[in-house]
Amino acid sequence: FLVEKGNFRHFMAKEMHEQPEVVAHTLAHYLDMANDTVQLPELPFDFASLQRVSIAACGTAFYAGMIAKYWFERYARLPVEIDVASEFRYREAPLPADGLAIVISQSGETADTLASLRYARQEKQHSLAVVNVPTSTIAREAEAVLPTLAGPEIGVASTKAFTCQLATLAALAVAAGRARGAISAEEERELVHALVEVPRLMNQALDLGPDIEHLARSFAKTKDVLYLGRGTSYPLALEGALKLKEISYIHAEGYAAGELKHGPIALIDENMPVVVIAPYDGVFEKTMSNMQEVAARGGRIILITDETGAGHAALETEATLVLPDMNPFITPLVYAIPVQLLAYHTAVVMGTDVDQPRNLAKSVTVE
Ligand code: G6P
Repeated sequence: FLVEKGNFRHFMAKEMHEQPEVVAHTLAHYLDMANDTVQLPELPFDFASLQRVSIAACGTAFYAGMIAKYWFERYARLPVEIDVASEFRYREAPLPADGLAIVISQSGETADTLASLRYARQEKQHSLAVVNVPTSTIAREAEAVLPTLAGPEIGVASTKAFTCQLATLAALAVAAGRARGAISAEEERELVHALVEVPRLMNQALDLGPDIEHLARSFAKTKDVLYLGRGTSYPLALEGALKLKEISYIHAEGYAAGELKHGPIALIDENMPVVVIAPYDGVFEKTMSNMQEVAARGGRIILITDETGAGHAALETEATLVLPDMNPFITPLVYAIPVQLLAYHTAVVMGTDVDQPRNLAKSVTVE
């Protein structure tokens, strides 16, 4: 069927702005919002007896999986391995009895992700697919499917499918935590309550649009950008760098902030912007000391944080994008928005084909 851009200049813009709605829709599918509990469909395995989760995916879906790894480990005490699907399918990893393979894919047709699912099934893993296209091959072949309800995504650079993958995986991690006795009923309510707040917070994040548009004008003049983060902000830094290079063709790298001193610090000068993703969470102070290292070398810092974080960041930045304070659990869902907007507006200034970037395909069904 026909999907139209409406009042938006690009599908990507429309899809970014749809996020509060489609994430709410996805969450409503997996949560009992009246009671602040998770409510997943019945799954053909028991989280309590799982030994390990193996996640395989490509591109943006891979970064959603990396964020989920932090959640499963922290909130469900469940060990997670994650690999890009093109490696997982060939590396002959031994997989444990009572293991679960999770594949994540917007299209449900990505060749490497499908091959990873087939490998996992052959190795007697339980399998679960998080997919946006319920009629896809991956959805058909997985033992269980958790659909993301993002609706059709047209822009090649994934936005709303990513945040809906995160919403689904967050609900799954809370369900796993409950089943494994890793979180109390009270903690479950707190986490679910935090998830329920996400759409409202996403709308507030979208209000940063004009500030980010302004920032994009100087971004468009740079050759390289570094993204830094710790904890779940680390995979988001990787996603931010991917988004920027995909659609603006500016070289960008994401790094764990703690790795700065092991290499990328050599790149810091007065030309390269460094985007620091740092919500006020348990690793905020650590990220601030990395930011200090950038500042001491005359680096250009763009800080994305919250009100409390902005109050604690005792440093000059080129720009600080301030989001509301929120439970650290949900920060990847909300911080995804400024990261996407920055890539989008930069690409618009550069005049690239935002929805159809050169050399990229929406769905990669060949190896
Ligand atoms: C392509 C797209 C990316 C996407 C990746 C995985 O490379 O350009 O945006 O993240 O495939 O796609 P999937 O459909 O499996 O999520």
